[in-house]
Amino acid sequence: MRIIDFYDQHPISEGQVLDAVGRARGGIDGTLTADDLFPFDQDHYGGLGAVDALARRAGISACSRVLDICAGLGGPARFLASRRGCRVVGVELNTGRASGMARLTRRVGLQHAVTVVRGDATALPFAAARFDACVSQEALLHVADKSAVLAEAHRVLVPGGRFAFTDWVTHPGLGDLERARLEDWMAAVTLQSLDGYRTLLGRAGFRAVEVEDLTDEWRAILKQRLAMYRALREETVRRLGEARYRAYDALYVFFVRLVDAGKLGGGRFSASR
Ligand SMILES: C[S@@+](CC[C@H](N)C(=O)[O-])C[C@H]1O[C@@H](n2cnc3c(N)ncnc32)[C@H](O)[C@@H]1O
Repeated sequence: MRIIDFYDQHPISEGQVLDAVGRARGGIDGTLTADDLFPFDQDHYGGLGAVDALARRAGISACSRVLDICAGLGGPARFLASRRGCRVVGVELNTGRASGMARLTRRVGLQHAVTVVRGDATALPFAAARFDACVSQEALLHVADKSAVLAEAHRVLVPGGRFAFTDWVTHPGLGDLERARLEDWMAAVTLQSLDGYRTLLGRAGFRAVEVEDLTDEWRAILKQRLAMYRALREETVRRLGEARYRAYDALYVFFVRLVDAGKLGGGRFSASR
């Protein structure tokens, strides 16, 4: 499946986030805050704790200029701005997600601190040395040319700037058919191993590379997310149809099996420019 289509047909969307907030608050009239969105606008594993863990590794403080690469609907960017007091720019390929990020950010009054640019992570539309920190979560699996993204992150960071990201990683035993299915079903291309990423970061010029295996943590989280997507069944069928609901469910069951079998997992990477 093409990456743009995958996120156009994703169970998590701007409308779904607002509906969920409405249900939690008994309506969405009046002022919304970023905190109202946080239980619903994070499209990665481990929720706000995972964003915090990246922020620590990226050394993000109130004076940091932060780039969120593949920012989605902007949940992590708004969390960083609201908790750390920093300014965050998100770069996002999918038009619906980029405009959704801008609208949700305005809706909660964070537009002074969080902005979004529609663009491609492999050709960042920013001048060199523009940011103090780059972060990214569960997105680089979709990018075939990972070296290009790492080179771009290196280019836009100031010397000494920090890059911290999480992503899917392969473990020994992931077969060609399983890889092909991940690519077909969710545009997961050229998945890297933990060591593969370490090598690519070094080649891109990063130093002090640290690699953490998150596979055990993600095993439990994935099962919870499968349950969460199943709880969204009615909404997903209404918005995208029964066939799409079933295809997404089959994809998720497949993920859970691969992680249970130790063939697929997660990694957190951090490094200095
Ligand atoms: C799983 S979502 C994660 C969103 C966000 N990081 C979060 O944690 O909430 C992955 C996002 O990466 C975006 N993406 C994929 N390839 C991209 C690329 N080459 N450049 C920019 N964004 C990309 C997708 O459109 C999608 O919004």
